[in-house]
Amino acid sequence: MEKTFAIIKPDAVAAGNAGNILALIENNGFRIVAMRKETLSRAVAEGFYAVHKGKGFFDELIDFMTEGPVVLLALEREDAINKWREVMGSTNPEKAAEGTVRKLYGTNIGRNASHGSDAPETAAFELSWFFRGYEVA
Ligand code: CMP
Repeated sequence: MEKTFAIIKPDAVAAGNAGNILALIENNGFRIVAMRKETLSRAVAEGFYAVHKGKGFFDELIDFMTEGPVVLLALEREDAINKWREVMGSTNPEKAAEGTVRKLYGTNIGRNASHGSDAPETAAFELSWFFRGYEVA
């Protein structure tokens, strides 16, 4: 069993698609270990995305991620990191496969409905950024 970290982004929450995305998550065999709805502060979003600081899209990314509430999730299943990335689809919704979260609910590479950890080390950092140890045990 493996854990990963996911975000239902502000565009998807505002559009009323959080429930549909949670259903996709459960229908794909994930256990929702922890879940919280929250509006991120700029400091929290900037720390989370620190690896992207200095890139051209960074300010746009932080504006977007703080514009409204998100749903923060700790998910568990076998091969959770890769599987969640598969269920989300390509980062750019225009290139994402049919039936994926980003194809169904994303708009463009900036407003792409969901986030997922890309490796075990990032999953560990991202889970610990948002959840306490006992919440994701
Ligand atoms: P995410 O998986 O949350 O990780 C970083 C995010 O940066 C990514 O999804 C995209 O939403 C965003 N991003 C990556 N590249 C670009 C880009 N060229 N323009 C705008 N946003 C981007």
